[in-house]
Amino acid sequence: MRFLSRPWRRVTLITHIVSAGAWIGIDVMVAVLVGVGWFGPDPGVRGLAYQALGTFVVWPMLTSGLICLISGVVLGLGTKYGLLRYWWVAVKLALNLLLCTLILVLLQPGMDEVVAYGRELPRGTTDPDTVSSLFFPPAVSLTTLTIATVLAVVKPWGRITRRRSERRAVDRVAA
Ligand code: HEM
Repeated sequence: MRFLSRPWRRVTLITHIVSAGAWIGIDVMVAVLVGVGWFGPDPGVRGLAYQALGTFVVWPMLTSGLICLISGVVLGLGTKYGLLRYWWVAVKLALNLLLCTLILVLLQPGMDEVVAYGRELPRGTTDPDTVSSLFFPPAVSLTTLTIATVLAVVKPWGRITRRRSERRAVDRVAA
């Protein structure tokens, strides 16, 4: 099925690339805020970094991830690539779904604790576990999004399913 006309394919592709770029940018911002939270110059600045991280990051990140997912699915379904026809598309679909799930299941639930810790930090308090494991979200997400970008550009591994003409040839040989 190739229902996307040329102009619509362009619009969808631009949306897809911009949302992927925004997602990567938000991950970089998370890495910076975590860095300031850990190594910032004084407890006041470190506390503010944690409060910003816990308050502003998750929903924009999830929104860009979902826009990337939806535009990617439309591109897949609306072009020759399909959703489960080429390995590079199927793997990207799995990675995008995995990251959005991790945002909701692992990252979002800990954010209230991060904000509370940010508020308490200038008064002196011990790190909760959520804060010491904050290295992982930007590291995992940036690595995965880089892999997805490489897959999008290189388009490796070929098809999952055979072309119809190839299937007919195989059937003919078998018969
Ligand atoms: C995981 C996050 C994703 C990132 C970072 C990403 C990145 C990109 C980039 C940079 C391109 C442009 C490549 C080029 O024009 O050479 C692209 C194209 C594409 N992406 Fe994604 N993508 C992601 C998720 C997805 C998903 C979930 C799907 C579908 C299930 C998908 C399907 C496609 C398709 C079919 C194209 C080619 C569109 C065309 O040439 O018309 N992507 N992607």
